[in-house]
Amino acid sequence: MINREGASWQLNAAGVVGGGTMGVGIAYVLAAAGAQITVVEPDPDRRKAVSRSISDRVRKLENENRLETGLGQKINESISTVSNVFELDTCLDVIIEAVPENLDLKVAVLTQAQQRAPHLLGTNTSSISITRLGETLGNADKLVGLHFFNPVWSMPLLEIIFGDKTSTDSMRAAVALGARIGKDVIQVRDIPGFATSRLGVAIGLEAIRMLEDGVASATDIDQAMVLGYRHPMGPLRLTDLVGLDVRLGIAERLTADLGPRFTPPDLLRQMVAEGRLGQKAGAGFFEWDQP
Ligand SMILES: NC(=O)c1ccc[n+]([C@@H]2O[C@H](COP(=O)([O-])OP(=O)(O)OC[C@H]3O[C@@H](n4cnc5c(N)ncnc54)[C@H](O)[C@@H]3O)[C@@H](O)[C@H]2O)c1
Repeated sequence: MINREGASWQLNAAGVVGGGTMGVGIAYVLAAAGAQITVVEPDPDRRKAVSRSISDRVRKLENENRLETGLGQKINESISTVSNVFELDTCLDVIIEAVPENLDLKVAVLTQAQQRAPHLLGTNTSSISITRLGETLGNADKLVGLHFFNPVWSMPLLEIIFGDKTSTDSMRAAVALGARIGKDVIQVRDIPGFATSRLGVAIGLEAIRMLEDGVASATDIDQAMVLGYRHPMGPLRLTDLVGLDVRLGIAERLTADLGPRFTPPDLLRQMVAEGRLGQKAGAGFFEWDQP
């Protein structure tokens, strides 16, 4: 276990690769901690959406008097976007990738990010072994798993995972980063799916199978966990928030690594093929007014 003591690390400037659901949230919390952030997002529409989402969040908190004076403007001004990893400054304090859950894509992006020589290189993978990702990088001493949760600005947890080659300095830096951005940190062994995805996906997949089997309606399956087990939301609604495509990607990864108990149900595959990806698409297991 690495504790915060002795962690000498600063957070002045950072890069976030991928400006989707998670990348935007990660950029926000890093900026709120005072860092200058550059988000890499190749899709021009999503690039525009990054600043829009950040300023919407700032406006909401300001309207609720939950941001100290001047911080909102500072956050808005400290986040910029580029279209390519090679546009990131060299020697940033940290670069964190948050591109889709695809091994080849993550390897490609981390390889490029490593060439920018950041002091710490983080991956927000939900399921891929950090050691496995590190094996492709040549020198993986800076690579750590920094697993954030959605929505990043309100979820308190940061799950940290170290690979076989992660250096002690990088471990300390990762824990210091968590403290700096005000997250509660857990350190988890480098087993695919870590602690959170493995448990969360297991419950989510079983809920989908129960819907397939006609055990109950989506609403009632969710209520079983909300009212019966005091979960803050049901597993199907949570799958809608995470994104059905994201959950499918994780389930496929865990099936490959941990075995058939994580085999994605046909219903999940079918809904992803139909574009019913959850909240971001306006429809999933439930209808969503606001994508
Ligand atoms: N959605 C969640 O609830 C959640 C929670 C924890 C972890 N994660 C993990 O976070 C990662 C991202 O998930 P997400 O939900 O934000 O996905 P997303 O699809 O919302 O966003 C991914 C973004 O990456 C961009 N991208 C694709 N290729 C790129 C490249 N080469 N360079 C830069 N950007 C590129 C896409 O255009 C997209 O905007 C995944 O590994 C996922 O498993 C997701």
